[in-house]
Amino acid sequence: MSPTQSGAERLDPNRLPRHLAIIMDGNGRWAKERGLSRVKGHFEGSESVREVVRACRKLGLEVLTLFAFSTENWGRPKTEVRALMELLKRFLRKERQEMIDQSIRLKSIGQIERLPGDVRRLLEQTVAATAKGDKMVLNLALSYGSRAEIASACQRLAQRCLTGRLRPEEIDENRLAVELMDADLPEVDLLIRTSGEHRLSNFLLWQAAYAELLLTPILWPDFREAELIEALVEYQARERRFGLTSEQIQSGDPSGEEA
Ligand code: FPP
Repeated sequence: MSPTQSGAERLDPNRLPRHLAIIMDGNGRWAKERGLSRVKGHFEGSESVREVVRACRKLGLEVLTLFAFSTENWGRPKTEVRALMELLKRFLRKERQEMIDQSIRLKSIGQIERLPGDVRRLLEQTVAATAKGDKMVLNLALSYGSRAEIASACQRLAQRCLTGRLRPEEIDENRLAVELMDADLPEVDLLIRTSGEHRLSNFLLWQAAYAELLLTPILWPDFREAELIEALVEYQARERRFGLTSEQIQSGDPSGEEA
């Protein structure tokens, strides 16, 4: 399907979010509504992942971060955790060549060391195989929790203070930001959560400080290219003020001093 046929002509290509982050929620409910197993919901959810990644690449977004598995998700029934790991492996195997062909670079954030060995190896291989990709970053948050990420960044800074390489008064927002796991990625511009829940669930708490939040009732397995474009149309209709006034933003003079 060409961008025109998909409805992308409604978007201003110069005002797309550089970094889109998504909390993919509602797989379980999608399955329940159809009398299917939760695993089937995750399977359909992984089809949405494929379609949304392709659409983001086609539209020209720079970074897509997907919340694929939280630190809390380890507490789910063992069969579900196992199925999610299998789906992740399936995705990595199936999409690897496509990512290389499309110059998509795979990255991950989270406690990767907690993943089963075979998943971790496949992830690392795919990250290495796609390292030259320069058109888009697909960043998978796996065994990820934002508070843990911030706490370990603080630990590293504290260590440097102890060894005399850093003074506590030198710690500012920038110093902390570069210690975070995805320091080289731009800040999140748009954060979407599907399934009607109104929570951040410990996702990118620092990086999404000024993100536009878009909460949609659509369940993740139903969130495909058309739903993504709808979300981007809504994003482009918003005014991002970053704490300034509407007049300052519209005049293009953040100081507000211009006559
Ligand atoms: C939330 O739905 C979703 C997850 C915990 C996992 C997300 C995983 C996928 C979309 C598939 C595999 C990922 C990749 C990258 C291939 P939920 O189970 O909490 O839904 P519910 O709230 O309706 O129960």
